[in-house]
Amino acid sequence: MAVRLFEGKEHASSYLKYRLTPPEELISKILTFLKTHNGSLRELAVDVGCGSGQGTVLLAPHFTQVVGTDISPAQLEQAVKHNSAPNISYRECPAEELPFENGSVDLVTAMSAYHWFDHPRFLQEVDRILKPKGCLAILNYSLDIELSYGDCSKELNHICKEFHDILRSHQHSYLGSGSRVLYEQTYNSMQYPVKEWEPSYWVSQLVPLSRYIGMVESFSSYQLLLEKDPEEARRVSTDITQRLLSAMKVTSIETQVTMAVRYFYVLACKPSAQ
Ligand SMILES: C[S@@+](CC[C@H](N)C(=O)[O-])C[C@H]1O[C@@H](n2cnc3c(N)ncnc32)[C@H](O)[C@@H]1O
Repeated sequence: MAVRLFEGKEHASSYLKYRLTPPEELISKILTFLKTHNGSLRELAVDVGCGSGQGTVLLAPHFTQVVGTDISPAQLEQAVKHNSAPNISYRECPAEELPFENGSVDLVTAMSAYHWFDHPRFLQEVDRILKPKGCLAILNYSLDIELSYGDCSKELNHICKEFHDILRSHQHSYLGSGSRVLYEQTYNSMQYPVKEWEPSYWVSQLVPLSRYIGMVESFSSYQLLLEKDPEEARRVSTDITQRLLSAMKVTSIETQVTMAVRYFYVLACKPSAQ
């Protein structure tokens, strides 16, 4: 069964501002997989559950046409507003009913989104719309994000862990470690013989501390707490921020920290004849 979240207007705009853009190096891995198994055909890519389009735009230079699809009008509104690539368009539709002809798509991606879909129905749709030798890429990241700053990284990660532990009780079972299990199960049960499973691929980037806090606040677990008990949600976030600043011995939330995020992904290629 599909799970619907991320649909409020405020959530959609905080999403665009703070959410991690899928890293270019992961996009390169997807494109290399596609090139290896599909040759140079790059006509149409479909990014399902595209949200505000952060990952969709990264596909644009590599395909003649890219279509981002999502079930949330609020997310799509942000995507359209910030889209500058002429070969990208967006469609509002469920992941389980994709408006594409049989065998018409070279690449289907779902970035941080597959776990919310009705998995069997989505995979059936993917199989229907992919061309022979077309590829599927589903990727996500786990919430065990690590921060480094000077010699206080251990303390920072202890505080971050507390933040994540508080939010875990509001977390859907498809997130956190449950998400990696789901992706691995999908890999194991995938009927396509050519496939790849990467359980742990760390990506680091330098970001202001405010970005880390904003990103955690954009997680569905924080949004659920905010909905249930706004005062408590704000108290927790302010407390964690203050403790991180104090451990770093700085006062500005714009101080740069290194944030390392662990991605995991499944790549699969539809056989040329089934
Ligand atoms: C966590 S966001 C990821 C957005 C974007 N792909 C990214 O990498 O930031 C998940 C997105 O999946 C969409 N979504 C959830 N269930 C869906 C479904 N059944 N069909 C289509 N989109 C769905 C949500 O509206 C949301 O925009």
